[in-house]
Amino acid sequence: MITGKAKLAGVIGHPVSHSLSPVLHNYWLKHYGIDGAYVPLPVKPDAFETAIRGLQAAGFRGANVTIPHKESAAAIADEVDPLARIAGSVNTLIFREDGKIHGSSTDGMGYVSSLEAEHVSIADIASRGSALLLGAGGAARSIATSLMEHGVSVIFSNRTGERADALARELATAWQSHMKKSAPPLTTIPWDGWETALGEVSLLVNTTSLGMQGGPAPDWKPDLTNAPTHLVVSDIVYVPRETPFLRAAAARGLKTVGGLGMLLHQARPGFRAWFGAEPEVDAATVEHVLAALKQR
Ligand code: ATR
Repeated sequence: MITGKAKLAGVIGHPVSHSLSPVLHNYWLKHYGIDGAYVPLPVKPDAFETAIRGLQAAGFRGANVTIPHKESAAAIADEVDPLARIAGSVNTLIFREDGKIHGSSTDGMGYVSSLEAEHVSIADIASRGSALLLGAGGAARSIATSLMEHGVSVIFSNRTGERADALARELATAWQSHMKKSAPPLTTIPWDGWETALGEVSLLVNTTSLGMQGGPAPDWKPDLTNAPTHLVVSDIVYVPRETPFLRAAAARGLKTVGGLGMLLHQARPGFRAWFGAEPEVDAATVEHVLAALKQR
């Protein structure tokens, strides 16, 4: 039930209608019997600050922020977590009672939690080899930041090699300046060389849109012949749920982790801060979000 005392939060984006966050947060609100609501907030780029100040004035507790506002969110926050600074984006804003705004980035943490939820040990990943990330966009940057926090060395491979080189350089510099210590090794390999370089890799992550339904190559066929048997293969694409990347890995008997977990786990810190309960990503939560996805 929503009463006059309801706790309020939402997701700010442009567009925002594709976001699954309202489905997820309102499912948890109902499940935990919390007097609250989480709403989609379509906000044009030039209206971001006006919207934030309005939400604060209207008593909102905070908001998730998605494209194209992740940089503006970092700029408007009074306090930004060092890992969000390194990741270069903020996706969760908490409006504090003293009027200050706290910004954090939960995508990378959500990714690592999704691995742990599938019983993958990050310590094993770190000790057995490197993580090879395919792609060099915002998702690659967030995931790399959280893996680095766990001491994992990261290799980027991207179709446009210069983007991977630039990302590795920028991350190393940002890590040094915000963490005051050297970054774990960050290297790159050419796009046409990643399939043959799997021998030293313990975690392989697709952060590109390859294999996505409606994406550039829905029937992508990666060659995983050189994968070691302990390789963990994960994909941040979650439509379809079993992507061509994960299918190729499963066919070789490798451990696979799908992309839906990252989406669900990244929502937890915001929910906890705004609504005061620790939400669980259980089978019923997954079913609920999958049902919403099917209706699209
Ligand atoms: P995000 O911020 O969500 O990670 P992005 O910046 O658009 O998104 O990045 C998409 C990634 O998918 C990029 O690494 C892109 O490679 P380029 O930098 O070369 O564009 C990658 N990508 C998209 N289509 C691809 C394709 N057909 N083959 C290989 N990589 C592709």
